[in-house]
Amino acid sequence: MLRLEIRSKRFGAVEALRGFALTAARGEVVALVGPSGCGKTTALSIIAGLDRDFDGTLSVASDPDRRPPRIGPPRIGMVFQEPRLLPWRTVRQNLALALPRALRRDSRIDATLALLDLSALADRFPGHLSLGMARRAALARALVVDPDLLLLDEPLVSLDEVTAQRLRALLTRVLDGRPRTALLVTHNLREALALADRLLILAPSPGRVVAEIPIATPRAARDDAMVEALRADLLARADPVFRLLA
Ligand SMILES: Nc1ncnc2c1ncn2[C@@H]1O[C@H](COP(=O)(O)OP(=O)(O)OP(=O)(O)O)[C@@H](O)[C@H]1O
Ligand SMILES: [Mg+2]
Repeated sequence: MLRLEIRSKRFGAVEALRGFALTAARGEVVALVGPSGCGKTTALSIIAGLDRDFDGTLSVASDPDRRPPRIGPPRIGMVFQEPRLLPWRTVRQNLALALPRALRRDSRIDATLALLDLSALADRFPGHLSLGMARRAALARALVVDPDLLLLDEPLVSLDEVTAQRLRALLTRVLDGRPRTALLVTHNLREALALADRLLILAPSPGRVVAEIPIATPRAARDDAMVEALRADLLARADPVFRLLA
């Protein structure tokens, strides 16, 4: 579904990424895990097609199982690090505006709102939402197009523990939907171990992949104790890269 190879990505004198390669199979959830500044958001912007100024190649395919229209270019749903909803539009209008006119059906919007527990908040304006609600609305806006590839930039950061747990459970449900290829960016190892099928560990300056960790247990079967055990096992490895994650 996704193949990215970045020989080099620079911002002027700063080389943000070098020798950075990434693939995701159809239905696979891949986590990019690494410390602040290692280039996670930069990589996601390149994959989303928002930044074409890099030395390398990118290819994204369409999923044959997506809801109509089945043909056409790949659709990408992105949830930014900050929710970025249009403040003068309601939650429902934010979703509607994400849809091309041909796909703009109330039933589609209602189903997505219900999936993310937003039905009661449909007519609220973003300024009247908590951060957790705004994150769910941003996720709904990304999902309403039934994207071939879902990009999530730190979806649980800065939420209190209860809200983060709730959103994590919602994300599990979303990611276990139709083959849902997704990239999850996070600096939180627990979050990645709870949600992803495969972890790519990044190191900074310049950002690159230094380890790859597949997780065999199905997402729905991973409880807190299992996530803790996986994390302890990783941190106990001798490789100094895992100390970045402590
Ligand atoms: N628009 C930009 N102009 C100049 N430098 C940038 C720009 N965007 C990112 N950088 C630099 O590129 C590097 C990677 O930044 P990026 O935002 O991708 O990191 P990140 O892993 O997402 O960090 P965080 O966890 O804090 O969100 C950093 O050194 C950053 O300062
Ligand atoms: Mg970032």
